[in-house]
Amino acid sequence: MRPVSTHAETAQGGLRSEPAGLPRHVAIIMDGNGRWAQARGFARVRGHEHGVESVRAITRHAARLGLEQLTLFAFSTENWRRPETEVDRLMELLTHYLVEERDELMENDIRLTAIGRIEELPEDVQRTLAETEALTADNSGMTLCLALNYGARGELADAARTLALDAAAGRIDVAAMSSEEIERELDARTYQPDMPPLDLLVRTAGEQRLSNFLLWQMSYGEFHVADVTWPEFREAALEAALADYGSRKRSFGGLLSS
Ligand code: IPE
Ligand code: IPE
Ligand code: MG
Repeated sequence: MRPVSTHAETAQGGLRSEPAGLPRHVAIIMDGNGRWAQARGFARVRGHEHGVESVRAITRHAARLGLEQLTLFAFSTENWRRPETEVDRLMELLTHYLVEERDELMENDIRLTAIGRIEELPEDVQRTLAETEALTADNSGMTLCLALNYGARGELADAARTLALDAAAGRIDVAAMSSEEIERELDARTYQPDMPPLDLLVRTAGEQRLSNFLLWQMSYGEFHVADVTWPEFREAALEAALADYGSRKRSFGGLLSS
């Protein structure tokens, strides 16, 4: 892969002509578990089980490469539409993962956080998640953020509701409201205030859509589509995505000086 010497300066206005370098924040739509399994004659859930291995490998590798944040789309607000047996197995795998990974997260100094409507998840998932978040809260290496029961439109609707209530109570000046207030509200609701902006979104299994993921945050993010399914997406595939990102020139609507 390309040399990844310094963190890219991605703030609006940070125009420069050199390549983007190493992204600070990468998000992944982990797709294709079912197809991976079905192509091998297995039940779909085997794909989810195998996908956990990729989560482990990619998290460890991303931390070692120096990413500040990795955000993984693990369950969408639309995924409840799947058969109950599949949803139940996904929740089981999640709970298991959140316990099993504790040593690995501690050893690699990774802080675990989550976004999404966590309060609608089964209680055992919520409890295990809270415990793992608390255990890893003081780790200062990479942040691993799991998007669980996450949907971007819902996230924006929740933020709009809070802002409307604040406006009705006179706590904010509607006339002066700008994208910063919305951004602050999204950060306060679901992310840490020091969250780096999203630089790169990777989607596996060749699909080219957002599927209601990080609509706001992706406004200037770069997109990389990997043809392999999530269970096949390992270290080399991550490095290929980072190298692709590293060659991009980001101008944020401005012009790059040559
Ligand atoms: C991604 O794989 C995992 C989740 C959405 C939870 P899929 O289960 O969507 O796999 P495909 O897209 O059906 O192959
Ligand atoms: C997106 O994948 C959700 C997750 C990866 C958790 P889906 O497989 O659910 O998305 P669609 O249905 O193909 O758009
Ligand atoms: Mg899918």
